[in-house]
Amino acid sequence: MVVFVAIADSLAGRVAYSGLKKGVSGVGTQMKIKKVSKAVFPVAGLGTRFLPATKSIPKEIMTLVDRPLIQYAIDEARAAGIKEFIFVTSRGKSALEDYFDNAPELESELRRKGKTDMLEILKDTNMDSGAIAYVRQNRPMGLGHAVWCARRLIGNEPFAVLLPDDVIAAETPCLQQMVEAYAQTGGNMVAAMEVSPERTSSYGVLDIAEDMGSIVRVKGMVEKPKAADAPSNLAVIGRYILSPKVLTNLNRIKQGAGGEIQLTDAIAEETKGESNVFGYRFRGQRYDCGSKAGFLQATVAFGLARPDLRDEFGVYLNDMVAMQKAAQ
Ligand code: G1P
Repeated sequence: MVVFVAIADSLAGRVAYSGLKKGVSGVGTQMKIKKVSKAVFPVAGLGTRFLPATKSIPKEIMTLVDRPLIQYAIDEARAAGIKEFIFVTSRGKSALEDYFDNAPELESELRRKGKTDMLEILKDTNMDSGAIAYVRQNRPMGLGHAVWCARRLIGNEPFAVLLPDDVIAAETPCLQQMVEAYAQTGGNMVAAMEVSPERTSSYGVLDIAEDMGSIVRVKGMVEKPKAADAPSNLAVIGRYILSPKVLTNLNRIKQGAGGEIQLTDAIAEETKGESNVFGYRFRGQRYDCGSKAGFLQATVAFGLARPDLRDEFGVYLNDMVAMQKAAQ
């Protein structure tokens, strides 16, 4: 069990970290930076990698321990000071709308039975009226197009984008780290993480102009390059803080990688001339919950990080490993 608890601790993001460099050259010294209070959650995807489950439930409702994926993203956004939540949805996603609504019958039943602890748990799922908005993407044309669908709700202000498939375990939630870094840089910021060269074809990849440690200034971005074409192995992870200029860029960019309108390409436009695009190496452990293996890893890590489960679950996992070793 000790082994797995140790793994859980490191997975929970307690990673040594050099800290944010203050006063980075030319970065945000005199700028007046507008607060980020809106976030976009692109949740229109079909989730085909999780068929048959996603035949009738949205991928974002799939459960890590006892909370749907989307709850992790919402909690992270709230911790970063987000007040308005914009969901870009599609057909078959009504379970998401219900999830964030009040559940009067359930709540009154719990109240009647005196289950205050469960009522407390439900509180996190309720959104104030008007805090959450839904907009439809009626054709699957890519992440850039999904974000563009929210343009009228975003208006002329900086906004965050969170991809719920990317679950990040961290002591300070990832978007909050980014909001703090963005207070120094302004412009546009994407979460970034080193990946092995053979994995670059799964990500947006940064071309680095200046590496300042946790923050890098970016001079270009490429969506899903082959290892041989990748400008670095610093990959974009699904957290963004973007200027409204990116929405304007989305109006005119053409289809990119995979024949889709790519958010990466619209951000890359902002690297031309004097770039105001920054990558941010976050502290924490990211799980790719868009893949089955990543989802299982996250389930193990989050299960072990839960005080009410870690002992029983840790013993079980250690027994499993011992049994597997014995069988070899
Ligand atoms: C999207 C983005 C990509 C980014 C990735 C992070 O790709 O297009 O730039 O690196 O998310 O998870 P997707 O995984 O949706 O294909």
